[in-house]
Amino acid sequence: MKTRHRIEWLLAAVTLAGVSAAAGIGRTITIDATQGRTQVSPSLYGIFFEEINHAGDGGLYAEMVQNRDFEINTLPGGASWAGNLLRTTNGWQERKWFGNELHGWSLVNKGSAAGFIRQDEQSPLNERNPHSLRLVVKAVGHGIGIVNGGYWGMNVQAGQWYDLSFFARTAGDANTNVGVALESASGRESHATTNIEGVGGGWRQYRCSLKAQDSDPNSRLVLTVDRPGTVWFDMVSLFPRATFKNRPNGLRPDLVRLLADLKPAFMRFPGGAIVGGMTLDNRIQWQNSIGPLEQRRGTANLWGYWTSNGLGFHEYLQLCEDLGAEALWVCNPGFSDNYRNAEIASPAQVKELVQEALDAIEYALGPANTGWGARRAANGHPAPFPLRYVEIGNEAGGDLYATNYRQFHTAIHAKYPALTLICNERLKDQAVEMVDDHKYGSPADFFGAYQQYDAADRRGPTVYVGEFGCNSGVGAGNLLAALAEAAYRLGLERNSDVVRMSSYAPLFFHVKDIQWPVNMIGFDSSRVAPRTSYFVQQMLACNRPDEILQTQVEPPAAPADVELLALAGLERKTGDLLLRVVNRTATPRTATIRCQGLAKIGSDATITTLSHDDPTAENTLDFPDAVLPLESAFAGAGAEFSYVFKPYSFTLLRLTTE
Ligand code: AHR
Repeated sequence: MKTRHRIEWLLAAVTLAGVSAAAGIGRTITIDATQGRTQVSPSLYGIFFEEINHAGDGGLYAEMVQNRDFEINTLPGGASWAGNLLRTTNGWQERKWFGNELHGWSLVNKGSAAGFIRQDEQSPLNERNPHSLRLVVKAVGHGIGIVNGGYWGMNVQAGQWYDLSFFARTAGDANTNVGVALESASGRESHATTNIEGVGGGWRQYRCSLKAQDSDPNSRLVLTVDRPGTVWFDMVSLFPRATFKNRPNGLRPDLVRLLADLKPAFMRFPGGAIVGGMTLDNRIQWQNSIGPLEQRRGTANLWGYWTSNGLGFHEYLQLCEDLGAEALWVCNPGFSDNYRNAEIASPAQVKELVQEALDAIEYALGPANTGWGARRAANGHPAPFPLRYVEIGNEAGGDLYATNYRQFHTAIHAKYPALTLICNERLKDQAVEMVDDHKYGSPADFFGAYQQYDAADRRGPTVYVGEFGCNSGVGAGNLLAALAEAAYRLGLERNSDVVRMSSYAPLFFHVKDIQWPVNMIGFDSSRVAPRTSYFVQQMLACNRPDEILQTQVEPPAAPADVELLALAGLERKTGDLLLRVVNRTATPRTATIRCQGLAKIGSDATITTLSHDDPTAENTLDFPDAVLPLESAFAGAGAEFSYVFKPYSFTLLRLTTE
């Protein structure tokens, strides 16, 4: 937990009368352990991953080369160009997501060097990667080759190793030496160089490693040749060796660390709208995302960029295992995304999609002697992965969805009865185990939804709040949004007998290319900035009570008008009483806290506070520490005591019980 520690011994005897006028009218928070308790779901706090805002490519996925497969302009089946717009057969239009077909790449030529680069379809590497880059060199001059700047700069760090691989071929037997360099964006400073000799003949993979001499988060990769001729390149890939757990084709360790620090109970993947895609062909197809990189097929992402599928199904399942999280995989339900003029699968296609889902599940869970289980083992993981939930579709609905859902449910349940299957809606005529509710809106919406599930039908279905985020009227996200989410999430906790799971969305954003207004963790090539929403989740998830106690704030107020909101619960393993309080006002608020029916409360408590005088304050890459949770010690706790809650704050009081 990235917390600035501060020891703050506060006086025990702060009485209501003694509190300054600035602390405002006193309130009473009564925690009553003698009343009914709600068990809190151990799976309540999870994470949602979707390839949006470069969450994967250019983000969590540590690949440094953009458009490594030269496939960026490949259209989904059934789509065509109308000027700068992609148009699907169902009339959905999407803006062009690349500058030119070699987006990310350019020619570098020095002195009298002469030549050009083109995207090429001749003699492809394989049918899944039909395009390559053709470099034609007429004169070498002072150097000629190709350059890639990555995703807004490559982060190169002194002393670190970088592993490059690429496929190349030449016409006939001609061969060339390929110079490899990591250098500054201007090309003036060289950070590392090496050379691969004898590149030529048919398609072959070449590899080399470079150790950087300098640090530069805005570096680029340059490949040069040393003689005239033609060279084709494909699948040019550069990874830092220091990925998370040093895995090849791995993930950025700083971003994984942030996820691990949330202690997520589960991780949802692959989305979100991309589960449906712009067309059925454009849906995320898990089989295209496993195995050797050159055998994977990328996808034109409906969020406006090319997705390599390098962070594929296997890497996702591996990450779940690494995080100690259960996997929640979402399958396509027989149509493309509902908000993009859905393309409907025929009954025969629905059958194929059901089989596609069964195959994915077998890849994750099947013994190594099953077809897909064997593929998983061949890909390096003989043991099953922790897949526990399958959601059928994303934000889908209507009669057709209900019909398809039944088919998926029947087939999956017959083979994998232990899986929890999640439905997008409460269906009229068939039983649903768990339903996925989504919620986006303003702070008022989120504060007002504190009691949203109080009246939920306890007979079922259980609820997974699969996407939520306070993203309206809060700029790019701010403390007020996070406080509203804290209130909402406490509302979910106190209804956790029904609301079993929840995940904020979206998870990541690259600050240079944002498709969704408000997200949880910002980053660029080298820096990270978890937003205040992140810290609210961390405070809650890492201090999750096992049971909620009746908690009353007086004088009472309607959720929409509430100024001070409180919820207490007990943590079984420590016996600690966890009191979480949101003060949404601009002034300090004093409360007398009364604990009834509990064993003796110790006087020493630990307090964690997320607050700022300005509710629009937020962490950014330049000021990542603007609002952080502060931990302090408090010596004034007991069966009845007073505490002053800071303006615009979310506070966790960890009280010990005997
Ligand atoms: O979280 C961003 C998007 O919001 C998801 O892709 C979609 O499911 C929802 O509409």
